[in-house]
Amino acid sequence: MDLEGINKKVLEKLEIAGFTIENLSILTSEELSSKIDLDIGEAKKIINKAQHKLGIQPISAMKFLELESKRGKITTSSNEFDGILGGGVWTQELTELAGGFGSGKTQLCFQLCINVQLPFEEGGLEGNAFFIDTERTFSPRRVVEMASYRELDVEEILNNIYISSAVNTHHLFSIVDQLDEIIPEKNIKLLIIDSLASHFRSEFIGKGKLVERQQKLMKIAELLIMIAVKYDIAIVVTNQIIANVEEFLFGSPEEPALGFAWAHRPQQRIFLRKSRGSSRIARLFDSSRMPEREALFYVTESGITDAPYSTELFE
Ligand code: GTP
Ligand code: MG
Repeated sequence: MDLEGINKKVLEKLEIAGFTIENLSILTSEELSSKIDLDIGEAKKIINKAQHKLGIQPISAMKFLELESKRGKITTSSNEFDGILGGGVWTQELTELAGGFGSGKTQLCFQLCINVQLPFEEGGLEGNAFFIDTERTFSPRRVVEMASYRELDVEEILNNIYISSAVNTHHLFSIVDQLDEIIPEKNIKLLIIDSLASHFRSEFIGKGKLVERQQKLMKIAELLIMIAVKYDIAIVVTNQIIANVEEFLFGSPEEPALGFAWAHRPQQRIFLRKSRGSSRIARLFDSSRMPEREALFYVTESGITDAPYSTELFE
């Protein structure tokens, strides 16, 4: 650990106690001084330096606007869909895709794994994708099909998508734990977890497990947001839907799973639903910077597209 202006001996002590710059940056000075023999003033200084190093010091709104305009966006391959997202899927954010069976979540994830590799001027980030698969639905054949429709180098596209299968939540946490090494090493610009909901929902059943499930979800959300900001990457997770008991709240008989503790974590929440034929509707229903809006897109042989022919809408 390297923190300018902090005594080497103190840094050693922090390291031995298991502290990193990341976990120091989110402590209060009281917490730190109670964990390790330091006075409050010194603890405050260490936390300040750690925050500075991670770039999480306060900045002006003007500077914020400037930094925001420079943020990377990955195109969905549908102009209409990109439009409701403010240009595509943004880096430094956690984006949630919620939707029922066959609503297009996984297809959109495949498309993003391809698109992140495109040049900047074509809506990509010239980086690679890391796909954490919890349902064993990753399909190289489908990625090949989508990439060849766009006349991309199929082999290169496949070589730049890294896949890990997470067999349970414990395994998911251990993969997330390794991201600090994998992301810079493999030039990852997009991380996908498809689906985040499945293991959490199957392992923590019943009221007795609810608190533990919420704590784990909060933890993973916190880790993911920190990673998205630290490495300037986009993170997309998929979520299932459940019957909505309080229909008036969401205005639909279905709502995303995982409950309230999760609901406030993603910066962008998108609800996907089936429409006529291959068309799908995406609704951005909870965003930290865009209004609630809907977009129509299609899941076709070539992947995600805008309406192929407007007449199809009136079939
Ligand atoms: P779950 O994982 O079951 O919750 O659903 P999902 O939202 O991930 O669904 P997915 O993205 O797998 O979308 C499935 C839909 O995409 C299917 O109903 C098909 O309409 C379409 N689709 C999937 N594979 C193909 C394909 O190879 N070709 C075409 N044309 N469409 C496909
Ligand atoms: Mg799926």
